[in-house]
Amino acid sequence: MKLVVGIAGASGSIYAARFLKALLEIPGETFLVASPAGIRIFCEEYKTNVGSGMEIIEFIRNKWGITSDRNKIQERPFSDIGADIASGSNTWDACVIIPCSMKTIASVNSGLTENLIDRAADVTLKERRRLILVPRETPYNRIHLRNMLSLDEAGAIILPASPGFYQMPETLDDIADFIAGRIFSLLGISGHGLFPTWKG
Ligand SMILES: Cc1cc2nc3c(=O)[nH]c(=O)nc-3n(C[C@H](O)[C@H](O)[C@H](O)COP(=O)(O)O)c2cc1C
Repeated sequence: MKLVVGIAGASGSIYAARFLKALLEIPGETFLVASPAGIRIFCEEYKTNVGSGMEIIEFIRNKWGITSDRNKIQERPFSDIGADIASGSNTWDACVIIPCSMKTIASVNSGLTENLIDRAADVTLKERRRLILVPRETPYNRIHLRNMLSLDEAGAIILPASPGFYQMPETLDDIADFIAGRIFSLLGISGHGLFPTWKG
């Protein structure tokens, strides 16, 4: 599977970290774009000093001892609106923005495309590919809610960072894996083992 993954500036770096950790072990190709706010919040929430998307990947590899190189991950600069993934002629299967700020929600909804995360999301929608947005804010104001409804109407999937607790998570990583697992299910990737299937 060929994916575009955006890390925007919302709290919840753990969601990006656990999703990318699992992605690293799955065969595929990933284009990663991290916003300056996304990198800043990652540093704050993990008490680290990474400066780019690839440094986030290295951090994840080191933290969880991931050696697999089955997923070819390449970074594209946030400001490079002329990068390969700015064009629909480059075919990727889906785009996931995790976590997704209300600012990125608003700009994707308005079609502004001022940076590469917004542009790749816009292209994903226009090419009728799967766009999964993982927003994190609380509480929502009516602007946030309208933007998310409008994005849903345009074909995006709003997958809020709202983990379930019925699987009895024991760690923060377990909680974040619930969200990562829901994304994998929507991408059609089964057998991820990120949480047990509910048996009723
Ligand atoms: C520590 C910190 C936490 C933040 N958490 C959130 C958040 O949970 N949700 C949100 O929408 N914005 C949050 N913001 C604000 C965004 O980072 C800000 O609106 C930024 O411009 C988003 O830019 P981006 O979407 O291009 O990454 C936070 C900012 C900081 C510094």
